[in-house]
Amino acid sequence: MTALSPLRIAVIGSGPAAMYTVEHLLAAPGIDVSIDIFERLFAPFGLVRYGVAPDHQKIKGVTRTFEPLLHDPRVRLFAAVEIGRDLSLDDLARHYHAACFAAGAQSDRRMGIPGEDLPGSLPATTFVAWYNGHPDAATLAIDLQREAAVVVGVGNVAIDVARILVLTPGELRRTDMPRYAIDALEASRIREVHVLGRRGPAQAAFTTPELKELTALEAAALRIDPAEAALDPASAAELERSPDRTLARKVQLIQEIAAAPVPCRPRTIRLRFRISPVELLPGDDGAVAAVRCVRNRLVATPAGAVAAEPTGEEETIPAGLVFRSVGYRGLPVPGLPFDERLGVVPNRAGRVIDPATGSPLPGRYVAGWLKRGPTGVIGTNKPDAAETVRCLLEDAAAGILPAPPEPGPAAIEALLRARGTPWLTCADWQRLDELERAAGAREGRPRVKFTSLAAVLEALGRAATAPPRP
Ligand SMILES: Cc1cc2nc3c(=O)[nH]c(=O)nc-3n(C[C@H](O)[C@H](O)[C@H](O)COP(=O)(O)OP(=O)(O)OC[C@H]3O[C@@H](n4cnc5c(N)ncnc54)[C@H](O)[C@@H]3O)c2cc1C
Ligand SMILES: NC(=O)c1ccc[n+]([C@@H]2O[C@H](COP(=O)([O-])OP(=O)(O)OC[C@H]3O[C@@H](n4cnc5c(N)ncnc54)[C@H](OP(=O)(O)O)[C@@H]3O)[C@@H](O)[C@H]2O)c1
Repeated sequence: MTALSPLRIAVIGSGPAAMYTVEHLLAAPGIDVSIDIFERLFAPFGLVRYGVAPDHQKIKGVTRTFEPLLHDPRVRLFAAVEIGRDLSLDDLARHYHAACFAAGAQSDRRMGIPGEDLPGSLPATTFVAWYNGHPDAATLAIDLQREAAVVVGVGNVAIDVARILVLTPGELRRTDMPRYAIDALEASRIREVHVLGRRGPAQAAFTTPELKELTALEAAALRIDPAEAALDPASAAELERSPDRTLARKVQLIQEIAAAPVPCRPRTIRLRFRISPVELLPGDDGAVAAVRCVRNRLVATPAGAVAAEPTGEEETIPAGLVFRSVGYRGLPVPGLPFDERLGVVPNRAGRVIDPATGSPLPGRYVAGWLKRGPTGVIGTNKPDAAETVRCLLEDAAAGILPAPPEPGPAAIEALLRARGTPWLTCADWQRLDELERAAGAREGRPRVKFTSLAAVLEALGRAATAPPRP
C-alpha cells in the first residue's frame, strides 16, 4: 500500500476489542492504514462505559489508553451509526478493504425455567445497563421496593449486581451513575440479596478481589453457610489437580468468610452454593414473589469437569426481584454468519468463516466477545485483537483483500448524509466528555452521563438539523 491508497478498514464497535484492534493496526510497521470506527451508541468504549461497575472508576480509567487512538489522524469515529441498520455489509464492502466486527455480546443467556419472564425477573444485562445509564435502558422503571432479591449465577457480573444493590447513599454518590439510578437505589427497600451458585466454591466464576470487596461494604454483611463452603469429594479432587494457586486461595477465602463472625450491618448478601432455581413463583400481583430451588450434589464428569446434579431436596426463597446473571450472549449482525448455539460469529483466529464451506470470507474479521464468547476481562481482548489483526495483515500482504470500488474517505460520509443519518465525530465525543465531566465536578462525582441521543444532539446544538432516531 502507498500513502495514496491506504488500507481502508472499518472497525465495528468501540469497546475494548475494537480499540485494541485499532491500536494493533496503527502500530503495524510498513503499512499505511485508514480506520473508520462505527459505534451504534453516541459514546464510545462499550462495556467500559456501560458494563464496568460505576463504583469501579479506576477500571473505567482504561479509556485513557483508548482516547489517544481516537485522536490519531488515521482514525475517524462515526458514533451513533449502527451496522446492520444505518449501513449494510454491502455498504462496507463498497468502501473498505476489510471490516473487523467487534460488536460484543449485546444480549443475555436464559435460565430456561418456568416463571423466568414474570414481572420482577430481569436479566443482569438490563440492570447493569440501567445503572450505567445505557441509552437503551435509561427509561426503564426498576422496582426496588422489595425486601429481598435473588441473583442467579456466581460470576463477576453477579457480584457487581449484588454489591450495587446494597451500596449506601454515600457510596452511590461517589459514582457516575445517572441520577435516576442513584435515587432509586437510595430509596431501595432491599435488605437481603441471595446470590445462587449451582456448583460449589471451587467452581465459582468470580475472582478473589471481587469477593473480598463484598466483605468491606459500609452497610452490608456477607454471609456464607460453612456447610456450603466445605468442599465435596469431586471438588476437592479437582482442586488438588489444579495448578491454579489463585483458585486454592479463593476457596480458602470463601471458607474463612464462612467461619468468621458475621458483622452486624443493616443489609445482608447471602452467597449460596450447590443450589439451582427451578421455578419463579408469582405472588397475588402476578409479579415474582419467590424462587423455588433445588439443592445440588456435585459429581465428576467423564470429561474431568465437576457438574451439578439435583438432589430432589427443595427450598423456596421469598424474593420480589430476580436478576439472572448467567452470562451475556452475542447477537447476529445482519448479513454476517452467526453460530446460534454459541452466540458468536464463526471464525478461525479472527477470520470470519462461511459455515457452509468452512472457507474464510475475504475481508471480514471478528474480535472480542463476538469472536470468542462473553468471557474475559478488558485485557483479554488485547491479545485476542492482536491475533485478528495478524490475520488481516497477512491477508493484505497476500493480496487477497477485495478492492473496494469507492475507497475514498469522503464517500462514506456522503452516503450517510444522503441517507439522513447523523453521526458524531471524535471532536463531538470530546465535547460531550468535557460536558459530562464538568457536570460531574459540580456534584463531586466523576461525570454525569448523557443518557439519550436527543439530549446529546441538543447539547451539541444539533437538535434542529438532525432529528433523533428512535
Ligand atoms: C457488567 C460487566 C462488568 C465488567 N467489568 C469488568 C471489570 O471491572 N474489569 C474488566 O477487566 N472487565 C470487565 N468486564 C469485561 C469487559 O467489559 C469485556 O471483556 C469487554 O468489554 C469485551 O469487549 P468487546 O469490545 O468485545 O465488547 P463491548 O465492550 O460490549 O463493545 C462492543 C461495542 O460494539 C457496539 N456495537 C454493537 N453492535 C453494533 C453494531 N451493529 N454497529 C455498531 N456498533 C455496535 C456496542 O455498542 C459496544 O460499544 C465486564 C463485563 C461486564 C458485562
Ligand atoms: N471485576 C471484573 O473484573 C469483572 C466484572 C464483571 C465481569 N467481568 C468478566 O466478564 C465476563 C462475564 O462475566 P459473567 O459473570 O457474565 O459470566 P461468567 O463468569 O461466565 O459467570 C456466569 C455464571 O452463571 C452461572 N450459570 C450459567 N448458567 C446457569 C444456569 N442455567 N443456572 C445457574 N447458574 C448458571 C455459571 O455457573 P457455572 O460455572 O456452573 O456454569 C457462572 O457462575 C467474565 O469473564 C468476568 O470475569 C469481570
